[in-house]
Amino acid sequence: MQLETTAPQRPAGVPAPHTGPELTVIAPSFNEAENVVPLIEKLTAALDGVHWEVIFVDDDSPDGTSERVREQARLNSRVRCVQRLGRRGLTSACAEAVLASAAPYIAIIDADLQHDETLLPKMLAVLRSGEAEVAIGSRYTEKKLSEGFTRFRQLTSFIATRLAQTILRAELTDPVSGFFMAKREVFEGAIRNLSGIGNKILVDIFASSGRRLKFRDLPYTFRERLHGESKLDTLTVWEYLVLLADKVFGRFVPIRLILFSLVGASGVFVHFAVFWTLLLSGMAAHYSPDHAVQFKFAQAVATLVAATSNFFLNNILTYRDKRLRGFAIVTGLLSFLAICSVGAVVSVSFAGEVLAWFPEAVRERKIVLSFAALSGIAVSTILNYSATAIFTWRKK
Ligand code: GDD
Ligand code: MN
Repeated sequence: MQLETTAPQRPAGVPAPHTGPELTVIAPSFNEAENVVPLIEKLTAALDGVHWEVIFVDDDSPDGTSERVREQARLNSRVRCVQRLGRRGLTSACAEAVLASAAPYIAIIDADLQHDETLLPKMLAVLRSGEAEVAIGSRYTEKKLSEGFTRFRQLTSFIATRLAQTILRAELTDPVSGFFMAKREVFEGAIRNLSGIGNKILVDIFASSGRRLKFRDLPYTFRERLHGESKLDTLTVWEYLVLLADKVFGRFVPIRLILFSLVGASGVFVHFAVFWTLLLSGMAAHYSPDHAVQFKFAQAVATLVAATSNFFLNNILTYRDKRLRGFAIVTGLLSFLAICSVGAVVSVSFAGEVLAWFPEAVRERKIVLSFAALSGIAVSTILNYSATAIFTWRKK
């Protein structure tokens, strides 16, 4: 006869003494020191009965947010800190915290108390029931735009939503939401393909999953900020567009190379603007009476101004996440200019080589000359792009 043994059952909601948390709440933070303790208190109240932990992922905030989190972590084992050095960006920060979590459910919530943490138990219930694999805190489930937003913000928000819906082919009511919970498999299925650009992690996850995700929108009201200030500025819109472009074209060409080339093209306009200003305003004539010298002077100044403008545009638009600041701008500019002058020499000699491949009879033709010139530009762009990626905006 077989002996039936039944292990004593723990009451529902009470974890085994040493099991890990069922839910990891990730709170990305940058200069949120004053919000650390209030957020922990709010989570503690909202998640009563859940085995949870919170990971603050902090990008080395100058206001000491990380240290504030570690002080709490010493008192409370539910609290953890991931501190990143030399990097910025909400999406990439959250991705690293995901990798530091082992829980079956993971939520993302802003550290600044603007998201309504009392929604977390509802999100968890939706996921546990299997009704959806992503539960999203949505600011506008009834298609009504949030009050308190300016008309411009309402419009941008509307366009941003429509654009994402089209690209993701998912009817998310608030795709740019930074507040949601998902099963860990959802994060694992997307994490290697994330663009990591900017701060729209939900869009990034949906676009990087390679399959349709079952989601459910849950309404909440976005709160006012009490401490600290928003880090998202006008260029947030730019980052969002870059993210979407990366999702559409990134498979074929690195998005940064596209941006770098566009900035390079803008340099042509800057070049001619400076060039003609110097020549037509008589400034070049002031420099020398000799026409050939005037031309060289205008060309030299225009080249320098255009290259400098390219550097600053790339620093803001192409390498926003690795933006050089302070003294690093000076060394960065110098290395950029040095690399681009090598690029210019390569461009000229490569174009000459290409031209020499053509039979002598056709070398004078405009189309052949243009082709040679363009191949010089293409080669030097790729060279400049690769070299500046390594030496100017160093990979970390
Ligand atoms: N680690 C890290 N690194 N955290 C960051 C960074 C960063 O570079 N930038 C911002 N954060 C943190 C902030 O400290 C805050 O906790 C959270 O990310 C959101 O940043 P805010 O600057 O407060 O953004 P917001 O309030 O203007 O916009 C929020 O709401 C929008 C609508 O839901 C964000 O959640 C947006 O992503 C969201 O679209
Ligand atoms: Mn905020």
